[in-house]
Amino acid sequence: MNEKINIGVIGLGHWGPNHIRVFNNFHDTKVLAVSDINPECLRRAADLFPSIQIESDYKNILKCKDIHAVIIATPTSTHYQLTKEAILAGKHVLCEKPLCQSSKQASELIKLSKERKIILMIGYIFLYNSGIKKIKTLLDEGDFGDIYYLSSTRTNLGPVRKDVNAAIDLAVHDISIFNWLLESVPYYVSAHGASYLQSGIQDVVFINLRYPNNVLANIEVSWLNPKKARQMTLVANKKMLTWDDLNLNSPVAIYDKGANVVSTSADYGNFLHISMWEGDVRLPKVEVEEPLKSQNYHFIQSIKSKEPVFWEDKFTYGVTKVLESINRSLNEYGKLVEIA
Ligand SMILES: NC(=O)c1ccc[n+]([C@@H]2O[C@H](COP(=O)([O-])OP(=O)(O)OC[C@H]3O[C@@H](n4cnc5c(N)ncnc54)[C@H](O)[C@@H]3O)[C@@H](O)[C@H]2O)c1
Repeated sequence: MNEKINIGVIGLGHWGPNHIRVFNNFHDTKVLAVSDINPECLRRAADLFPSIQIESDYKNILKCKDIHAVIIATPTSTHYQLTKEAILAGKHVLCEKPLCQSSKQASELIKLSKERKIILMIGYIFLYNSGIKKIKTLLDEGDFGDIYYLSSTRTNLGPVRKDVNAAIDLAVHDISIFNWLLESVPYYVSAHGASYLQSGIQDVVFINLRYPNNVLANIEVSWLNPKKARQMTLVANKKMLTWDDLNLNSPVAIYDKGANVVSTSADYGNFLHISMWEGDVRLPKVEVEEPLKSQNYHFIQSIKSKEPVFWEDKFTYGVTKVLESINRSLNEYGKLVEIA
């Protein structure tokens, strides 16, 4: 496809306008039309982007023959229906995270997109984050040895969602990161949460996961926390690292630290001795780039090359399966749920 790719953006709340900005800055894409059910959002869009067609009904975007691809930036509870309609209308889809909360719906949408030869991409934006990409490269180089565990914290005061809990809204990022770094899906999950602001919608969730090869993982998410944090610690047998997304200069720190069990024998029996080492801390160079720009560029390249985004299908199914299992565990007060 050599011509310009025309885009429709559905959902103009907090996040949708960022997509308009990014696509309008690419030389080979143009945002032709946008839609929202909120007249205030439409008025704001008309002021900011006077040349764009404004629609109060997204179906007009799906009907428009000149539009090749749509961005779905509406609340999560609407993603399944809108994505399905967009695929059936023959539009390539970039749906914001998460695609949906049910693995059955995820597999239906993935199957439909394959049958219709539609590119279906999900906004796993942290897979385009420079720090996370650096960590993936470091792990692939093998210097860390065997990974023991991962732990992440993602907190802030708001924004509070009304349609999904904090795990579905926030932990989807950490699960996509963990599944990608470990190239696997956890066997088990257990999640505890509490709803302080809205009945039945957990504002704070603590999640434990068990990945293959005895890798343990933990995620804390909350939109009811005084401090904004996006952090991760990874501990392996040869090295350790931390990631702090809010540290713009040096988000990744590599620690030459660790502990080994050494068996020693003395006259009066065998002893286990723990030997520890503490070497240098290295701050690798991390190129700064806007993740949304990289993600959306990848979407356009996938449409042009007709090559599906490389981690879709199994990856999206895996992430959705974990989200579904977290909800099950939350509803059963932290019950250990096997992810089949
Ligand atoms: N990748 C990221 O870092 C990131 C960041 C923020 C939000 N998001 C995702 O983007 C999506 C939107 O988040 P937000 O913060 O912008 O939410 P928001 O509530 O601010 O905006 C959603 C908008 O969708 C509109 N809408 C709802 N139903 C619609 C319909 N049928 N047709 C047209 N418009 C409709 C609403 O009126 C609202 O303006 C969510 O899925 C969220 O998870 C992703």
